Amino acid sequence: MIIALNNKSNLEKKEFKSYKENLEKITTKHKLILCPTFLNIGQCNLKNIFLGAQNVSLSENGAFTGEISATQLKSYKVEYCIVGHSERREYQKETNREIKKKIEKLFLNNITPILCVGETLKERNEGKTEEIIKEELLSAIERLTEKQKKQLIIAYEPIWAIGTGKIPTPQEIIDIFTYIKKISPESSVLYGGSVNEKNIDSLKKIDLIDGFLLGGLSLNIDKLVIFLQKCK
Ligand code: 13P
Repeated sequence: MIIALNNKSNLEKKEFKSYKENLEKITTKHKLILCPTFLNIGQCNLKNIFLGAQNVSLSENGAFTGEISATQLKSYKVEYCIVGHSERREYQKETNREIKKKIEKLFLNNITPILCVGETLKERNEGKTEEIIKEELLSAIERLTEKQKKQLIIAYEPIWAIGTGKIPTPQEIIDIFTYIKKISPESSVLYGGSVNEKNIDSLKKIDLIDGFLLGGLSLNIDKLVIFLQKCK
């Protein structure tokens, strides 16, 4: 399975040093992708763990203060990059159009995008989940080649499940994964949102899930180890 670790805006320099050392001690058959903050990317030269970023700039190198380009990520051996996380869609007002462009920039640099899609609680209650997912997905993949769609990783993260301790029912996950895989059958699809070392017992029974995108759990090595042991 693909297990992507989204550190979000956590772990200062010293904390990251010991976190990284502990992470490297983990032995697992799963594919681990660590997505630290940009600053901590510079500290990463990890054995058996792939390196990811949490965002990429729309710009090339140049006069774009505060931006980090796809070519710069590549020069730090970044192989994956989260795009369109709901926190960026909400706080940085990222649009589907910008996300599509970021995906193109990443592919040009042979960095695999991890595209996040998911509905708010309001949208879910209004029965709009499929509509939202379709809009976010179609706009992101419309110009991709078959090869790129195969490389693309999609992460279904219902916004109401992120950091709340709530997760969809297995049937709800099966329904939405079936829907996503109808739209982009070649892509791997991860589940994200309040995944932990306990609910993995039921989540791992869902065959359609190709892996997980972990937020809070990525920061707790002891619980992460239990989670990885339980993952199928
Ligand atoms: P939590 O696992 O903390 O709910 O976060 C999920 C997430 O947003 C990962 O990108």
